[in-house]
Amino acid sequence: MFFQQIEKFLFDDSYYISSNFFYIRIYRWNPSLNLKPWFNIFPMRFKKFKQLMILDLLFDLKNNYDSTLTFRRSCREGICGSCSMNINGINSLACLQTFNPQSVQFLTIYPLPHMLVIKDLICDLTNFYNQFRLIKPWLINKKDDISYKKEILQSKLDRLVLDGLYECILCACCSASCPSYWWNYDKYLGPAILLQAYKWILDSRDLNKISRLNFLKNSTRITKCHHITNCTQVCPKNLNPAKIITLLKYFSSF
Ligand code: FES
Repeated sequence: MFFQQIEKFLFDDSYYISSNFFYIRIYRWNPSLNLKPWFNIFPMRFKKFKQLMILDLLFDLKNNYDSTLTFRRSCREGICGSCSMNINGINSLACLQTFNPQSVQFLTIYPLPHMLVIKDLICDLTNFYNQFRLIKPWLINKKDDISYKKEILQSKLDRLVLDGLYECILCACCSASCPSYWWNYDKYLGPAILLQAYKWILDSRDLNKISRLNFLKNSTRITKCHHITNCTQVCPKNLNPAKIITLLKYFSSF
């Protein structure tokens, strides 16, 4: 029955239009099985699902069809960034993305592109977080300053400057969509890390701006960006890393 549905779906257009099913195709790979990666296709009925969150669909599949399906998630609110994956060709967060089976009958889910896969939809983000550590993502202030151990206040204007930066949740959707990062992941920091670096440079409480900029002056850490702007198009938080990289290039040119 299942294969008949797939065959009809592939070769019979009328079936495609009138069918009560939609299909979820999920990239699978398990290092312990010694198999090549494969696709799992799950047929689902319209009736059960109308407009659904992708993360709910994945849970439904895991709980009712295949408990070995593996993916990351935590907050279910678009806050932690752990459910990033490639959904119908666009990097996004499974907990923010919805799917309407009446308009698209195939839902295809891959792990983030050009990342090493640990299992199924889970990528290895070690390189990404190592690069994050390189930019020293913490407040650097004078240690002998007595105010260092107290709350460091900002004016409302200084705080406003950080809008469009502090919202980044390091989901890696932007970096994993960037061809320059795909080919130079060991040299180029990528849009997410550069946006974070810019946040610390602009933060009025941080006193390490010059050395932060000097760190970025290395020929490839920032200049490998060719302004493809995929990063801005896919950011699930509607940030603009491409614009930030342009500003960083300008500031680090002095
Ligand atoms: Fe936290 Fe999706 S589960 S961002």
